Amino acid sequence: MKKAFITRRLPDEALAIVAAACNYEIWDSAEEPVPRALLLEKLRDADGVLCLISDRVDAEVLDHAPRLRIVANMAVGYDNIDLAALRARGVALTNTPDVLTDATADLAWALLLAAARRVVEGQKLIEADSWRYWAPLFMVGQDLQRATLAVVGAGRIGAAVLRRAQGFNMRLIYHNRRPNAELEAQTGASYRTFAALLQEADFIVVTVPLSAETRGMFGASEFALMKPNAVFVNVARGPIVDEAALYEALKAGRPWAVGLDVFANEPIRADHPLLTLPNVVAVPHIGSATLNTRIAMATLAARNLAAALTDQPLITPVVPGA
Ligand code: DGY
Repeated sequence: MKKAFITRRLPDEALAIVAAACNYEIWDSAEEPVPRALLLEKLRDADGVLCLISDRVDAEVLDHAPRLRIVANMAVGYDNIDLAALRARGVALTNTPDVLTDATADLAWALLLAAARRVVEGQKLIEADSWRYWAPLFMVGQDLQRATLAVVGAGRIGAAVLRRAQGFNMRLIYHNRRPNAELEAQTGASYRTFAALLQEADFIVVTVPLSAETRGMFGASEFALMKPNAVFVNVARGPIVDEAALYEALKAGRPWAVGLDVFANEPIRADHPLLTLPNVVAVPHIGSATLNTRIAMATLAARNLAAALTDQPLITPVVPGA
């Protein structure tokens, strides 16, 4: 039987799939990431690894893993993996698309609504015992109806965010590397150049993957183009946004508020500068964090690992392997 290493405790359903296909060892912690040195040691004789976005799989790891044939990443994003190093060694990579689309789109909307209607700021005000009066302009936020919702990135999650706008009577626009006719037919959204989208949108949701092209995509000049009432939401990856520029932009008044699920260096600490601003809603990278979604992600990653180690076709390959 082949041998696999699993880098975090997984639901039993997923472990049963792996156990039926190979022998495995596991870093059996529900929370703490596996120490790098232990990962290197465990991969010495492993044929496959099931890992998470917090595990960096690069040339060093692969050099320690001469037998490795499959990296099954339990995430749709795979910016934690060095694709060139993987390809050079003929190692396959799989991810977990589709199963987390709805949960992530839901969280984008949770952040959008919370930032637009000052939900977190309102709770903090009550907790600080500062609620004194009902007043005409007390805690006023932004309207959704008749506003323009923009999605940057026309993939599965972007489309799901747009579909959810149906009940809000919004105008829908999007930007993507190239226009996507299917998305337009499905959602009624219209394509815009990046600059036009930034100038026109009342709500902007980022769903692009992190790549050399999208790293730092939102910086000072992009924030300066936004409307003063714009609400900006990032459920993709932190490094797509220049956080120092975002801090200055928020202080200068545009965007009007932000909802962030992801950060440049995760986990952030309580002294992160963005947390000092009242118009920042921040959550700890929980886009896909519903029980059913996490079970579906873990079992899909396990099925990919098992398929590779029993010479079956990969279910959701990113890199097919040698
Ligand atoms: C992903 O899947 O890429 C998320 O960021 C983690 O759920």
